[in-house]
Amino acid sequence: MSKRETLNIESMETILENNDEHIRNIRNLNEAHYTELQHRKKAIIVTYGCQMNEHDSEKLNAMLVDMGYEITKKFDDSDLIIFNTCAVRENAEFKVYGNLGHVKKLKEKKPDLTLAVCGCMMQQPHIVAEIKKKYKYVDLVFGTHNLINFPSLLEATLTGKGQVVEVWDTEGDVIEGMRSNRKKEVKAYVNIMFGCDNFCTYCIVPYTRGRERSRKLEDIVEEIRSLALNGTKEVMLLGQNVNSYGKTLENPADFADLLLAVNAIEGLERIRFMTSHPKDISQKLIETMATADKVCEYLHLPVQAGSNSVLKRMNRRYTREQYLDILERARGLMPELGVTTDIIMGFPGETDEDFAETVDIVKRVGYDSAFTYLYSIRTGTPAAKFEDQVPEDVKHARITELLSILNPMVEEKMHSYEGKSVEILVEDFSKSSKAVLMGRTRNNLTVTFEGDAELIGKLVMVKITKPKKFSLFGEFESVVR
Ligand code: SAH
Ligand code: SF4
Ligand code: F3S
Repeated sequence: MSKRETLNIESMETILENNDEHIRNIRNLNEAHYTELQHRKKAIIVTYGCQMNEHDSEKLNAMLVDMGYEITKKFDDSDLIIFNTCAVRENAEFKVYGNLGHVKKLKEKKPDLTLAVCGCMMQQPHIVAEIKKKYKYVDLVFGTHNLINFPSLLEATLTGKGQVVEVWDTEGDVIEGMRSNRKKEVKAYVNIMFGCDNFCTYCIVPYTRGRERSRKLEDIVEEIRSLALNGTKEVMLLGQNVNSYGKTLENPADFADLLLAVNAIEGLERIRFMTSHPKDISQKLIETMATADKVCEYLHLPVQAGSNSVLKRMNRRYTREQYLDILERARGLMPELGVTTDIIMGFPGETDEDFAETVDIVKRVGYDSAFTYLYSIRTGTPAAKFEDQVPEDVKHARITELLSILNPMVEEKMHSYEGKSVEILVEDFSKSSKAVLMGRTRNNLTVTFEGDAELIGKLVMVKITKPKKFSLFGEFESVVR
């Protein structure tokens, strides 16, 4: 098998049609293996990065199951390992390289182990070049736009020799009709759009996920209707910037219209979405959130920085004043609104005064939680070439200071729930014990309580007895429905 690096984008639709045949061929190979050795081939998918990647992994998972693989969580007994990678920060990439080293040792013991790497890292030419040069034992490399083509790529890998590489640098049309094996049945991820056009100067995502394109409103509603019929109670609508939903559609619709259409779906209890970009939050959206009963009172609203000059150089296209104004209006209509955020420390040129403004905005907002990151240079983004890169020790000192302010505020917020009754949707057992269930409040706080498996998928009232650092523990009171 020779290396293939380009393929005509126009053949996308044909690929979808041909997928069934490739899946059947691989299933036949796997059946032959089973007949001979009496055990099924096993596959593991390791997912890094955001919900987009998690959802892509669910699609890969569905294809693998159709191909006759058993899904495993252990590297040691797998026949196929897939790393679905993230490129958003350097440490995400280091983790992947570290794991590739680990798999090399496994492959030495088990030469017919197949190793595939996909996802956002693979959309960067310098990474693919590195893999071809230094990681020759990787059998298959494919990009985010090539997910649809996975069955034919895997078949080529399993039946040929040498590394198979396929990375399209353009995104093509939105493809409908890919199934996904969703991890959680109560809650499901639903893509509403792909890509990003915002080009924040620090961010690699527009380069790894391509241009923004929205799925048709009818297709999204249809998918969620069928999920609801299968028992899904909550959907998480996914996009890098959900507030700009609809801009690429022929039939005009915006995100608020979509929320209303989804709100009307019978059987569904809750609607969440992420990520919201502050520059695109309209008053119509805030009002829709407040009035549509299934839309949860929760906003993940990344602020990134509190200083206007930093925000400008980040190309975020809002000011701290506009950001605070959005939250004031939203909280005016939804007093219980849960708010979380992302913050980057040490963006190039960030001064002590700029950082003080980030601390100040954190104090003003009072977040329920925040994801805090050290700025990481991403090759190919504008900020990588900015002067005045902030030294690592300064970034670390700033994140430590910010967390020393943020964490007690979050804890205090959690403590304010003591003794209160909250409505939660029970999602699953908690990670720690099968006797403990977990769910979330409408404003996205995690609640655990002792209860019966029958409660999974139900809306229940829980009285908070013990607030913890980042979650709440309570006692079951009653079933709502
Ligand atoms: N589309 C979303 C988030 C995408 S990436 C949004 O716009 O909010 C998730 C988070 O990673 C970002 O919000 C940002 O805080 C962080 N991030 C992105 N690029 C980064 C970089 N180069 N260094 C550090 N953090 C980064
Ligand atoms: Fe990255 Fe900005 Fe797009 Fe978010 S909105 S994915 S931070 S470019
Ligand atoms: Fe990472 Fe790609 Fe998501 S870079 S954050 S996995 S879109």
